[in-house]
Amino acid sequence: SPYETILLERKGRVALLTLNRPKALNALNLQVMNEVVAATEDLDRDPEVGCVVLTGSAKAFAAGADIKEMCPQGYLDMYLSDWFAAWDRLGRVRTPTVAAVSGYALGGGCELAMLCDILLASDTAVFGQPEIKLGVIPGIGGSQRLTRAVGKAKAMELCLTGRTMDAVEAERAGLVSRVVPAGELLGEALAVADTVAGMSLPVAMMAKESVDRAFETTLTEGVRFERRLFHAVFATEDQKEGMTAFTEKREPRFRHR
Ligand code: HXC
Repeated sequence: SPYETILLERKGRVALLTLNRPKALNALNLQVMNEVVAATEDLDRDPEVGCVVLTGSAKAFAAGADIKEMCPQGYLDMYLSDWFAAWDRLGRVRTPTVAAVSGYALGGGCELAMLCDILLASDTAVFGQPEIKLGVIPGIGGSQRLTRAVGKAKAMELCLTGRTMDAVEAERAGLVSRVVPAGELLGEALAVADTVAGMSLPVAMMAKESVDRAFETTLTEGVRFERRLFHAVFATEDQKEGMTAFTEKREPRFRHR
């Protein structure tokens, strides 16, 4: 593997990407950013990959952007290098992604989890945007995605005080889809990913694109967008297979195109 800070494994049509900087609790330095983004874009180009699971360690999904790396930077360093801009490319990946979060998901770690499509948490997960305690603010979309996920009340409190949320609060607030016991997290995430990867890949991509559109546009435009994609799926063999399998009372075998 060309990567030093992440581990990559393939399990059938599912790819597992594990953050692997244990000594720094998976702090997201520029190398981690570049490797996660490059690896995910690679997987995105591979039609044999139907879903990507992103995870960390039991103790930390990621304890944030790398504070030691950022500490000496000045405004022009940050501006001219467009610090963190590569993370935006993760949000443009078309293959569905699942974040499996155990332990700390703070600052950039919480933002990275929110860049994924499905967010599963272990009962040990801790979420927060504590940047304010370091004299900075979120920089990978946290103030925007957390607010859209949990609403202004909680997002504002978390961003202004640095308070963290446990898994139960995160689920109640709508940040994560489900909480599972720590020992079952990875298995459950892989099972969810395997389910997604068994669907038609282009149709799953369109479903993802359609849900994501809800964050970008008005209801009328969003429904129009959905309707166009809904019509478009009738151009796939997988639509015929899925509906035929139902009428024949059997499981569909999608060809993913
Ligand atoms: C760099 C980090 C780090 C980080 C942990 N480490 N988080 N290094 N950047 N974000 C390092 C520690 O320095 C330490 O290295 C090692 O990982 C283990 O961490 P400890 O603190 O010893 O572990 P523990 O006592 O268990 O505490 C865990 C923790 C704490 C509560 C998660 O590490 C912590 O508060 N981390 C920072 C969390 C945070 O503020 N995240 C937001 C970052 S800002 P050594 O070498 O000392 O053993 C951010 C901003 C995004 O994400 C955009 C803003 C511009």
